[in-house]
Amino acid sequence: MNFARMVDLDLRGKRVMIREDFNVPIAGGKVTSDARIRAAIPGIQLALDKGAGVILLSHLGRPVEGQYSAEFSLAPVAEHISALLGKPVRLLSSWLEGINIQPGEVVLCENVRFNPGEEKNDPALAARMAGLCDVFVMDAFGTAHRAQASTEGVIRKAPVACAGPLLSQELDALQRSLHAPDRPLLAIVGGSKVSTKLHVLESLLDRVDSLIVGGGIANTFIAAAGHRIGKSLYEPDLVPAAERLIRKAHDKGGDIPIPRDVVVGQSFSADASPMVRNVDTVGPEEMILDIGPRTSVDYAHIIAGAGTIVWNGPVGVFEFPGFAAGTRSIAEAIGRSAAFSIAGGGDTLAAIDQFGVANDISYISTGGGAFLEYVEGRTLPAVKALADRYAGTAT
Ligand code: 3PG
Ligand code: MG
Repeated sequence: MNFARMVDLDLRGKRVMIREDFNVPIAGGKVTSDARIRAAIPGIQLALDKGAGVILLSHLGRPVEGQYSAEFSLAPVAEHISALLGKPVRLLSSWLEGINIQPGEVVLCENVRFNPGEEKNDPALAARMAGLCDVFVMDAFGTAHRAQASTEGVIRKAPVACAGPLLSQELDALQRSLHAPDRPLLAIVGGSKVSTKLHVLESLLDRVDSLIVGGGIANTFIAAAGHRIGKSLYEPDLVPAAERLIRKAHDKGGDIPIPRDVVVGQSFSADASPMVRNVDTVGPEEMILDIGPRTSVDYAHIIAGAGTIVWNGPVGVFEFPGFAAGTRSIAEAIGRSAAFSIAGGGDTLAAIDQFGVANDISYISTGGGAFLEYVEGRTLPAVKALADRYAGTAT
């Protein structure tokens, strides 16, 4: 999809409104993980360098719409951006009434979800936002899957609408991974439930050369392959879906490998003692909590042979030290590989941090839900709106 890009526009003396995804964890009035804020800085800096006055918008959490609540205030974010930029960032509370801004200034509007109509994408609210700027920049990749007033709606109403550098970079990296990959293309999809990722798995199978599943998802596949899995978390209703996906992979000449060995515990707890089992000797009281060491070696070989790797979701309960080895070995193998690698999703980013491989992954996405929806092959509404504006067909 083609869309206007901020980098190409003249912004001198303009009021530039940038929609960011500053939906970040906050504890005790401080931002505790600032990856999304750091990722937004180049777009803000670009607007300042081009001589604009910068108006930032974001949501934070899911407050009751139409009600201010200190818990969901962006005040800690304003402080954090100000520290990163090295200049004051004013937080505006009743900004819909009008914004006073000079070139070179940065202001942050209070949580967009305090405004009635935000989540329902009320066109009147979107038009009010659009009226506050000369140029609207969508740079919130993490929220591009939401059709809301401050994302999709305002894009359709703003005098000029374009994609910021973060959104452009995210889409370029995903495009490169899924639409023009160096082959073989390998996807690694972990996490607890097949049900939440069934569409992602279906859609990936049409594109990839190999698919590795992990976590609770793998348990359902292990059951589908006919093994007893004891008390492991799995979804019995989805065993037929897993069987169908395995057949689909085989019909294409590919595979969804089943682990040869697994690490089990007696309970889902950090204190459970890890024990390695062949996949066909899991006891009736045992729970599979990680892949085993021989499987880690098998998967490391597949990873080493890949040309492109898309990674979402851990392969074991890596938060428990006794069950972290599988996810560590996957993370390290991706880090060692020369393949173009892209990773997304909250748990995946936590694993990347825990195992210290962030610098060895080619691209780390700021998207959770948006990353998965893109991988599913769905059109992100905010990206569609930008493309429509570009094509001159926006309504
Ligand atoms: C996210 O964290 O996934 C995005 O910021 C979207 O947030 P939402 O799921 O509350 O719309
Ligand atoms: Mg690498």
